[in-house]
Amino acid sequence: MTILLLGAQGQVGQELAQTLAPLGKIKAIGRAQLDLTNLEAIAQTIRTLQPQLIVNAAAYTAVDKAESERELAQRINAEAPAAMAKSAADCGATLIHISTDYVFSGRAGSPRQETDETGPLGVYGQTKLAGEEAIRAATSQHIILRTAWVYGTQGKGNFLKTMLRLGKERERLSVVSDQVGSPTWAKDIAEAIAALAQKIEPSKTASPAQDPPFGTYHFTNSGVASWYDFAIAIFEEAAALGYPLKLQSVKPITTADYPTPAQRPAYSVLNGQKIAALLNRDAPYWRTSLRKMLKNHMLTS
Ligand SMILES: NC(=O)c1ccc[n+]([C@@H]2O[C@H](COP(=O)([O-])OP(=O)(O)OC[C@H]3O[C@@H](n4cnc5c(N)ncnc54)[C@H](OP(=O)(O)O)[C@@H]3O)[C@@H](O)[C@H]2O)c1
Repeated sequence: MTILLLGAQGQVGQELAQTLAPLGKIKAIGRAQLDLTNLEAIAQTIRTLQPQLIVNAAAYTAVDKAESERELAQRINAEAPAAMAKSAADCGATLIHISTDYVFSGRAGSPRQETDETGPLGVYGQTKLAGEEAIRAATSQHIILRTAWVYGTQGKGNFLKTMLRLGKERERLSVVSDQVGSPTWAKDIAEAIAALAQKIEPSKTASPAQDPPFGTYHFTNSGVASWYDFAIAIFEEAAALGYPLKLQSVKPITTADYPTPAQRPAYSVLNGQKIAALLNRDAPYWRTSLRKMLKNHMLTS
């Protein structure tokens, strides 16, 4: 099958370029080849390529900046996915799109299911939710995969990379301990998406008994941590691998001690049972993936 990968230079996008490659002929496109604010260019790219599968890993991901750039965030997170979905419907392609835990308010104290009520707290979450809704309205042939707390070796930056840098530069750090979620390795997301892509491959779903599993899914690594727990784990695992750290102590602080322009969900855990049942496997435990990722990172950097 022909696969169009958008957002190919992002932290998840670069991992997807690897995991999707064995599944077909992949055209991986970044901002330089297609600026997603240009909706007509999106339509034209899809019309020309006529892919069977479109995977969108691109997004406006600057959560705090989005508070003052609503129009741009809306364009990239909602209008661009809407254009992708319309063009996908026109050429009979499936669209796999990545969304976020930020579509929820984080006020419920139990892992969120796909059918739970949404209620984004900020512009980023609102625009991502608008993107989901636009896709559902334009084509039933979609998979929306919500994930959370993503880190990896690729892309411009993430919490893990910031912690490693600060741990090398400073003796003391303060990290928020009253927001919890599931730290998730970008590579694990890319592997889950590749597994979903195999399930919707036309040749594999020829029998009506095996309807393609379109719809919305939650995928993160399993287990729960606060940002403080995640930071401590990063430093422990990095130190065990011989990473040079100057850091002596990490202090837990509250969200109120660390104000940001965008409000974050306090409890951001997603329930991954639906995708686990479909793929017949549990998501890896977050700390196991962290250890693997750091080993990988140390070997290659
Ligand atoms: N990071 C997280 O913690 C997290 C959590 C939950 C869900 N997600 C979702 O996961 C997906 C992947 O995120 P990520 O962490 O891989 O983010 P990322 O590293 O920021 O990647 C996003 C990519 O989108 C590209 N992009 C932005 N604006 C564009 C435009 N106008 N035209 C073309 N490309 C554009 C970016 O290009 P530039 O680098 O050139 O800007 C970047 O390569 C997104 O849907 C995100 O909402 C992420």
